[in-house]
Amino acid sequence: MTDNRILIFDTTLRDGEQSPGASMNLVEKLEVAHALKELGVDIIEAGFPIASPGDFEAVQAIARQVQGPIICGLARCNEQDISRAWEAVRDAARPRIHVFLATSAIHREFKLQMTPEEIVQRAVEGVKRAKDCCDDVEFSPEDAARTELDFLAEVVERVIEAGATTVNIPDTVGYAVPSHYAAVIRYLKQHVRNIDRVVMSVHCHDDLGLAVANSLAAVMEGARQVECTINGIGERAGNCALEEVVMALRTRADFFGLTTAINTKLLYPTSRRVAHITGLQVQRNKAIVGQNAFAHEAGIHQHGILKHRETYEIMRPEDVGMNKTDLVLGKHSGKHALRERVQHLGYHLSDEQLQRVFENFKSLADRKKVIYDADIEALVEAEIHSGPRLWTLHAFTCNAGSGTLPSAAVVLWHREGKIVKDAALGDGPVDAVFKAIERITGIDVTLKDFRIRSVTVGEDAQGEAQVEADYRGKTLTARAVSTDIIEAAAMAFLQVINRIALKQEETAPRIHPTDAPPKAESVGSGR
Ligand code: KIV
Ligand code: ZN
Repeated sequence: MTDNRILIFDTTLRDGEQSPGASMNLVEKLEVAHALKELGVDIIEAGFPIASPGDFEAVQAIARQVQGPIICGLARCNEQDISRAWEAVRDAARPRIHVFLATSAIHREFKLQMTPEEIVQRAVEGVKRAKDCCDDVEFSPEDAARTELDFLAEVVERVIEAGATTVNIPDTVGYAVPSHYAAVIRYLKQHVRNIDRVVMSVHCHDDLGLAVANSLAAVMEGARQVECTINGIGERAGNCALEEVVMALRTRADFFGLTTAINTKLLYPTSRRVAHITGLQVQRNKAIVGQNAFAHEAGIHQHGILKHRETYEIMRPEDVGMNKTDLVLGKHSGKHALRERVQHLGYHLSDEQLQRVFENFKSLADRKKVIYDADIEALVEAEIHSGPRLWTLHAFTCNAGSGTLPSAAVVLWHREGKIVKDAALGDGPVDAVFKAIERITGIDVTLKDFRIRSVTVGEDAQGEAQVEADYRGKTLTARAVSTDIIEAAAMAFLQVINRIALKQEETAPRIHPTDAPPKAESVGSGR
């Protein structure tokens, strides 16, 4: 590998998943891992195996199923963590163990209550233990950006002697500024023996909005691995955004003279996929992947663009996989056109999945004049995340207005063939629908969060409903889309109920389940 190649270490599934509300299940993590592989990342940090059995299972499944990138598991510098991390990644074609230990004075004193000597010893032991399992070992001195430089240099030198192959310098609390962070990397390059034998890595948090700038300052000083996440998701304000750092390196190749292996045309589809799965929406004006990133509103800009694109555009939307013309299909479009569009958006559906998306597309086209890419993405995401159903929404009506009590009547179809109806009052029409669903299914949940957003623009735009509910201490989330926002809410809520009902059914299996719901059910797009 040439010296001007930057390794992209993606930690969406580990640091990114630590974002409040971003937790993913096994199927979703595997989907993200496959998307990251397609995108061309060099290393996938798949999780923190000791953290929970679910984390372990996900890292192991990714290690076994995702071929190409290095698969990495995180561990603290102790025997139990390292063994668990190794157990999880050992089946990967290219496994890596990432061990970390805090080094800054504030962490030493208040978190670890350890002396500098004890820190060095623990770090060295951790790297040696990891090295007994795996050739590829990364070490991170947590809170490195706030660590005394001479002590940081000592730790780094000692872990290199112990066998670390990558040394990462985290700005754990997002405290660094570009020239300061660059100076840390420069100092280590100048003062640590054998530093050129390892890959220097950077890991920046975005508390001051400087994660990308700090990472770029570090690569200018010789760092050759950048740790980042899709859409910049992560603890607190997040991590360095993968799409931003990659496009900065590419667009300003004249300045940096550095490359990555990322297929930039997949940046936008990957960003959308992660946003859908985690429920963390991308702000409209977000660099590279925000809906407005390539939209020119001011007349003077539009005029310039029409005359010569580069007057106001430094990147082409198609280079990041964002389509120039968003207006795609309509009522008369056939399955072939839909298949092409779906593939272009970065999805690979089976024939059965495509057929179901097509049916929902047709029903949407009857209700909505213009179908945008975002509508198609919503239909596909709904298909991918639909999962088995015990209860299906058959019909509902609700009644609300000033001076009346909000009420709803709901009809659900049960997989065993029965239709059940009930009605309820609520604080509003959505609440009344949820209460009626709870009465029918006999499952009561505590609603923690409920959000509606518009998928596209226009009066007939689809609404996406997101529901987060608590059931016996477990948080469940779901999403659904429809041009009718109450229907979207009902379908999302029903997904949560279905997950609980199916889990209950696992413990008391039914004898004669039938399959297909009646035709009248296909009112919404969010299956
Ligand atoms: O921010 C941080 O310090 C981390 C380490 C575990 C690398 O995420
Ligand atoms: Zn971090």
